[in-house]
Amino acid sequence: MPYETLQVRTEAGKVGVIALNRPKQLNALNDQLMDELGAALKAFDADDAIGCIVVTGSEKAFAAGADISVMTKYSFSDVFRTEYISRNWEALRSVRKPVIAAVAGFALGGGCEVAMMCDFIIAAENAKFGQPEIKLGIIPGAGGTQRLPRAIGKSKAMDMVLTSRMMDAQEAERAGLVSRVVPLDKLMDEALAAAITIADMPRLAAMAAKESVNRAFESGLSDGVWYERRLFHALFSTADQEEGMEAFLAKRPAQFSHR
Ligand code: CAA
Repeated sequence: MPYETLQVRTEAGKVGVIALNRPKQLNALNDQLMDELGAALKAFDADDAIGCIVVTGSEKAFAAGADISVMTKYSFSDVFRTEYISRNWEALRSVRKPVIAAVAGFALGGGCEVAMMCDFIIAAENAKFGQPEIKLGIIPGAGGTQRLPRAIGKSKAMDMVLTSRMMDAQEAERAGLVSRVVPLDKLMDEALAAAITIADMPRLAAMAAKESVNRAFESGLSDGVWYERRLFHALFSTADQEEGMEAFLAKRPAQFSHR
């Protein structure tokens, strides 16, 4: 499917790569881009060959936020009536395969929020994260006030949301927002290596692991542990559980069927 605001490709026959591509606007997120991102994610999620998805931007910007030139024309009645954000930014949440954000340059406002909707973030050394919406007279609108404190704690989240300051890659790693920081010229290699590792894992276990970790952010401990236990039990009905354990005991590589 041809996209105007994305570059989409497959790597190693098993990883879907989606690069946001509005370079003149530093990948500012407008409706067309978010519609296309949702469609590309859905297509990879439905493709049996694909085991992991990488979302990235350019070396200068992952995304500099929601498109301000569009938002400036909106009134309350426009955004409320059309369900701005809710209408087409939630697609990432419904993707069941693991999604890695490979972030270089600016990840601001909605850009930081899209990165946080992914399952984990690998950052280049030049990455800068921020929620500067307050300077525009608004607040983060795509989950930033909820996911940022869960990722980095209340104090740092308040600091960023209230002062609009940016956090560099090193601070983001120390704070737990990103899982690793790598040199800019190694960003895609690292993200693809991680994605291929994940794609080679038993698919159902990877999907269940993602679902269960995400549950930690949406439920109390008892509910979360109960949910995990049910998924853990369910995986004993899969071919890959049988194969993985037999292969370990026979000291041979496992041949997963992703069933
Ligand atoms: N929307 C629309 N256009 C944007 C944009 C955005 N969020 N961010 C950058 N651009 C455009 C600029 O207007 C500029 O366009 P022109 O060349 O036509 O003038 C182009 O991208 C390059 O930007 P700059 O010249 O500003 O580049 P810079 O290197 O000097 O600065 C920057 C980079 C610090 C990222 C700066 O562009 C900036 O502060 N951008 C806005 C960041 C922001 O406020 N994001 C939050 C948006 S609100 C939001 O996201 C709501 C939500 O929660 C969903």
